[in-house]
Amino acid sequence: MSAEIIDGKKLAAQFRAELKEKVAKLTAEGTVPGLAVILVGDNPASRSYVTAKEKACAEIGIYSSDNRLPENTTQDELLALIERLNNDDKIHGILVQLPLPKHIDEDKVLLAIRPEKDVDGFHPVNVGKMVIGQDAFLPCTPHGVVQMLLRNGVKLDGANVVVVGRSNIVGKPLANLLIQKAATGNATVTLCHTHTKDLAHFTRQADIVIAAAGRPNTITADMIREGAVVIDVGVNRVEADTPKGYKLVGDVDFDGVKEKASLLTPVPGGVGPMTITMLLFNTVQAADNFAHSKK
Ligand SMILES: NC(=O)c1ccc[n+]([C@@H]2O[C@H](COP(=O)([O-])OP(=O)(O)OC[C@H]3O[C@@H](n4cnc5c(N)ncnc54)[C@H](OP(=O)(O)O)[C@@H]3O)[C@@H](O)[C@H]2O)c1
Repeated sequence: MSAEIIDGKKLAAQFRAELKEKVAKLTAEGTVPGLAVILVGDNPASRSYVTAKEKACAEIGIYSSDNRLPENTTQDELLALIERLNNDDKIHGILVQLPLPKHIDEDKVLLAIRPEKDVDGFHPVNVGKMVIGQDAFLPCTPHGVVQMLLRNGVKLDGANVVVVGRSNIVGKPLANLLIQKAATGNATVTLCHTHTKDLAHFTRQADIVIAAAGRPNTITADMIREGAVVIDVGVNRVEADTPKGYKLVGDVDFDGVKEKASLLTPVPGGVGPMTITMLLFNTVQAADNFAHSKK
């Protein structure tokens, strides 16, 4: 079998076109959705993520406020900025680009964002609501993966899913979303990590394998069953003979797995574009909630 390759860019473009219409409607009604992006320091990867997020906002008519702060910004200065943005009616979503410099307590910063503006879905209030199945801002990458599966007609109800990786931003929330008693869940999920004994034993039984380990070749063809759906969340830089000296690869051995899977995401161009799209989705939702709370 040769897998159908999921085009994350195309799917993201469809989503963004739908969101653009919602933004136009909200704007006509007097609320221009607004996202504040905060970047502390000069990490090149973070800088490019922030630039991509702001560009994506502009493309669909979301106002974005760019807050780039020097590396030596104090925690109190950052908290004061968040407080100002919490109280700014033009701003409906606040995103703090992680990681933060070592002298700043990330947990404290995420807790300072009002849950109604937490469009990354990292505030414990939103995490808790997601776990108990209440309306919440869902974390962007896991939400993007679920939407990608659904929009490609993958049946989640009753599916055996293996998620590889248990981070708070990808693996854990993804597993949580997939077990919810809802049309977007109802799967049977096994969550694997570095202490899992015999990872392949679990992945070989899965209808859907989702790799979020941050390590190239974590999933190889011998680890999946014929016809499985394989989603590759990983983004890893490996040395390559390119002008930049590296290329990006996922966690899945793409060439090997594509001969056995039924559906597969590439890296780049798979999950990545969906992650930013879900940030736009949450920002539009936050603006919509704000507009309706005023009435
Ligand atoms: N495309 C996107 O938009 C997007 C968004 C976010 C992240 N990512 C990428 O996704 C990957 C994961 O990100 P993350 O933030 O979740 O990473 P992370 O915090 O480093 O977590 C990695 C997880 O994978 C597990 N793991 C690592 N090697 C493993 C192995 N050989 N077998 C089984 N489990 C293994 C770790 O287990 P332990 O807990 O036992 O250490 C950990 O739970 C990274 O490549 C990241 O760049 C992509």
